[in-house]
Amino acid sequence: MNITIKNIRGEECACNALIYLFSEGGSEGLKKLPPTIASLIKQVFSKEFSGKQNEVFLMKAPDSVEPERILLVGLGKKDQISAEKVRQAGGKAATYLRSMGMKRAALSTDFLFGLKISPVEFIEGALLGLYTYRRYKKDEDKRSLESITLLAKSSHELTEGLRRVEMLTDAVCFARDLVNTPANDMTPNDIAKAALSLRTRHLSVKVLDRNDAKKLGMGAFLAVAKGSKEEPRFIVLDYKGAKGAPVVLIGKSITFDSGGISLKPSDGMEKMKYDMAGGAAVLGAMKVVAALRLPVHLIGILPATENLPSGTATKPGDVVRSLNGKTIEIINTDAEGRLVIADAIAYAKRMKPRAIIDIATLTGACLIAFGNETIAMMGNDRKLIDALKKSGEDTYERVWEMPLFEEYKEYLKSDIADIKNIGGRNGGLVTAAYFLYEFAGETPWVHLDIAGTAWTEKEKPYVPKGASGIGTRLIYAILKELK
Ligand code: BES
Ligand code: MN
Ligand code: ZN
Repeated sequence: MNITIKNIRGEECACNALIYLFSEGGSEGLKKLPPTIASLIKQVFSKEFSGKQNEVFLMKAPDSVEPERILLVGLGKKDQISAEKVRQAGGKAATYLRSMGMKRAALSTDFLFGLKISPVEFIEGALLGLYTYRRYKKDEDKRSLESITLLAKSSHELTEGLRRVEMLTDAVCFARDLVNTPANDMTPNDIAKAALSLRTRHLSVKVLDRNDAKKLGMGAFLAVAKGSKEEPRFIVLDYKGAKGAPVVLIGKSITFDSGGISLKPSDGMEKMKYDMAGGAAVLGAMKVVAALRLPVHLIGILPATENLPSGTATKPGDVVRSLNGKTIEIINTDAEGRLVIADAIAYAKRMKPRAIIDIATLTGACLIAFGNETIAMMGNDRKLIDALKKSGEDTYERVWEMPLFEEYKEYLKSDIADIKNIGGRNGGLVTAAYFLYEFAGETPWVHLDIAGTAWTEKEKPYVPKGASGIGTRLIYAILKELK
């Protein structure tokens, strides 16, 4: 997709479709348009088109102007218009124009500048919305929107904003590709290859295999990997954009979660290829941070393995010793995410990090509590929690805090080991996080559960069906603000 800026008026812009944004009932915007276009829009306003959020209406343009067609896009009630509404409009407009076979679009930006919202938000929505996953399809559908021209005066702010949003959306789509790819083509080693593809002068990658993990004593990580013939990979990325203590990102990277011996029901099990969406979000974040050279020391850790049942698999009741020495009684082999993250946290703590953020499709309970709209957040550091809340609002990858009251510690008491890996049926979202808290200890740490948000069955204006790529934008947003 080609994004350009041109300082001309809409009626002068040769394109397949010229986009005008309107608020609900906001026909006062018509005064600024050339009379031929204004009178045409007036005829449909409040009848075929009223400006409701994400409403679109395409019509033929008058012969006297350059664009072939005009697309009206609704932003909803004027006092409720936000950056997010504009991103959604971008996604909606771009995918609609593509479905109509349009190739070249232009956006009139006067209305947005009037609202003090950058047209870059519209482009972000368009670039995210146009994503498709076609690796296994004979490409019968060749329709694509090839360019959007922003009708605006060029400025450093605008070109920089476009450059950043192209990198950011590229990283989100990179993460989506990893998650959408089925487990037979997205093994732990394939994830390692994806990580290695991100190497630059400032970003190095280290990949540990089963033997390395054994030597280090990663008993929890290995307990999950034990049932699979596929070699596990413990992947460490190190981006040195600044000196000093690193921020560590940990992404759950179970490339397929069958549950292990505590086997999941077969209904819907195919979805468990997305159990590495946390790892994909971390890779996406590393990719954009490195591309934009953010001044931060950032480590990414991806404990990558399958979780399968077999003659060598971990059995319910087995006790293993994790990297920090704690013994874990594995009551349920389907609670595997917390095991691999526990070892990753122990590994991270050796780097004396200033903060750890882990992101994981950790619990079905998250999905039950929040549906597909909200990331569950728990942590031990108020500043980090509040910063993530703010980044969540800015990116619309919204997070909601849940408690880590000390009473939950009880739930994880084992009769024969230091801790057990499940806390019983109730409070599953919180006890999973509490398990991780026992490993994070005093180190500033936040856990993000994306089980409900990493995959969508229903397409949204800028999130096509399948992997949402959630987490990359959220983490980038908080790192950008970090001082
Ligand atoms: N990967 C799953 C959680 C999950 C469920 C993610 C649905 C996305 C959609 C995780 O490993 C898991 O199986 N959790 C168990 C924990 C239980 C055994 C305590 C769960 O939530 O059922
Ligand atoms: Mn599981
Ligand atoms: Zn899992």
